[in-house]
Amino acid sequence: MRVVIQENYEKMSLWAAHYIAAKINGHKEDRPFVLGLPTGSSPIGVYKELARMNKAGEVSFANVVTFNMDEYVGLPHEHDQSYWYFMHDNFFNHLVDMKPENINILNGMAEDPEAECAAYEAKIASYGGIDLFMGGIGVDGHLAFNEPFTSLSSRTGLRALTTDTRIVNSRFFGNDPEKVPAYALSVGIGTVTDSKEVLVLINGHNKARALAKCVEGGVSQKWTASALQMHNGAIIACDEEACGELTVDTYKYFLDIEKAERL
Ligand code: GLP
Repeated sequence: MRVVIQENYEKMSLWAAHYIAAKINGHKEDRPFVLGLPTGSSPIGVYKELARMNKAGEVSFANVVTFNMDEYVGLPHEHDQSYWYFMHDNFFNHLVDMKPENINILNGMAEDPEAECAAYEAKIASYGGIDLFMGGIGVDGHLAFNEPFTSLSSRTGLRALTTDTRIVNSRFFGNDPEKVPAYALSVGIGTVTDSKEVLVLINGHNKARALAKCVEGGVSQKWTASALQMHNGAIIACDEEACGELTVDTYKYFLDIEKAERL
């Protein structure tokens, strides 16, 4: 696993955006580049930079197919807290050549959530899998909506949200955890780790414990993002603040390794 430590949120975002753009630009295969995407505050800087690069002609999304990680159950597209709305508002609407038919987001209003999730997995497979899945994590180390104790081999499905997550996400719902949907549809940990590459953004003091658990702790269903330790192409891009709970030798190790990679 690579852990790329950047000085602050802005630098982390630029690093990740340029990494993704380089992957898209370097994709020479006949099939589209398949990109997995998250919501949340963590990826906003990446989305801004990718949109800037797209407008400047530095990266094209004409041959990119996207799959989002998750969606709340019961929120229609036009609800300003639905992940469909978030993705269009923060990213897709700012791209000049993204094809709407290439955007895939789980439908939280589906009458048959199981069928919706099975179809999502099948669609990912029909493209030959995901080339790069970008993600963020919750303060409890959840990846997508795979809360603590979700199986590390889970596939796309219906998830119940924990009280903790509903409290954390209540900042977007008038600070009322009861207003946060109790369920979501989410790709599984297995869905994410089947991707060729996984790039997870971890920033801010409030993620420091989770970063330490996911990197220094064992692989554990309690910290579902720790499954990345078993992935051969996993990168965590983080800022200094998020490193607060790492031991000094871990911190130095990753700085050294990255310095060596650049030589
Ligand atoms: C939600 C999402 C996750 C996201 C997490 C962190 O729970 N389901 O996919 O990674 O929030 O969000 P933020 O980046 O705002 O901290």
